[in-house]
Amino acid sequence: MKAIDEEKGRPIGVFDSGVGGISVLQELIKVMPNENYIYLGDSKHAPYGTKSLEEVRNYSFDNAKHLLDEGAKGLVVACNTATSAAVRLMRGRYPKLPIVGIEPALKPAALQKEHPRVLVMATPMTVEQEKFKQLMARYKDRATIYPLACPGLMEFVEAGDLESDELYVFLQDLLAPYMDKQLDSVVLGCTHYPFARKMIRRVVGDSVTIFDGGEGTAREMRRRLAEADLLNPGTEPGWVRFENSVSTEEELELCRRLLKQEI
Ligand code: DGL
Repeated sequence: MKAIDEEKGRPIGVFDSGVGGISVLQELIKVMPNENYIYLGDSKHAPYGTKSLEEVRNYSFDNAKHLLDEGAKGLVVACNTATSAAVRLMRGRYPKLPIVGIEPALKPAALQKEHPRVLVMATPMTVEQEKFKQLMARYKDRATIYPLACPGLMEFVEAGDLESDELYVFLQDLLAPYMDKQLDSVVLGCTHYPFARKMIRRVVGDSVTIFDGGEGTAREMRRRLAEADLLNPGTEPGWVRFENSVSTEEELELCRRLLKQEI
């Protein structure tokens, strides 16, 4: 009995190319407050979105191995880029492990109303991957979809900059070509972008609905853990441990700040 509870009390491992996945961690804690978490940010190798597929795969496997060595009972790939590059292979390597990835929340955006106009913001790698092309193909008759690669955007969040004038100007330039498209919604297809939501909102205006995949991912993880009978039966609030490949105190402080940041 004790051994079973110990198994269930093991942490959930969460990783991202940097600090962005903390937006998913926030949702995981909302959905499963009694679980324990190890969050690994690979800020040393960020951004992933402009790297080669092979590099992102290798980093993703290193992150997964690290978290499993630390005792993780399941993995959340809190990075759209790493999910599209590596999650299928990862499930092949660890077939028994609950592994959940994140993908752009195109489904709720496309089904929001009759034929909406949807802008999907993501990294260059995410929009180029076959996985995203298939996702777009699934909804192409239901919505007008504009995929937009946003190189340079995650760097603001990595630097802890969520509301500078520079960020605002960057977003204005990036989104300018879509401002006359009568957008109904914007999908934040990179886990860093919810931290820039306030500024994105300022550029696109209040009539546009903004979606992200964090909550859906957290619910899916709960479902997968329940299926594997690995949910923590404890009722006390769990703990969160941050680790980062740039393990300076400033970096860890940024992680703690982002965990508390309203998004
Ligand atoms: N946070 C990552 C994502 O969700 C990507 C940022 C990057 O490393 O380029 O796609």
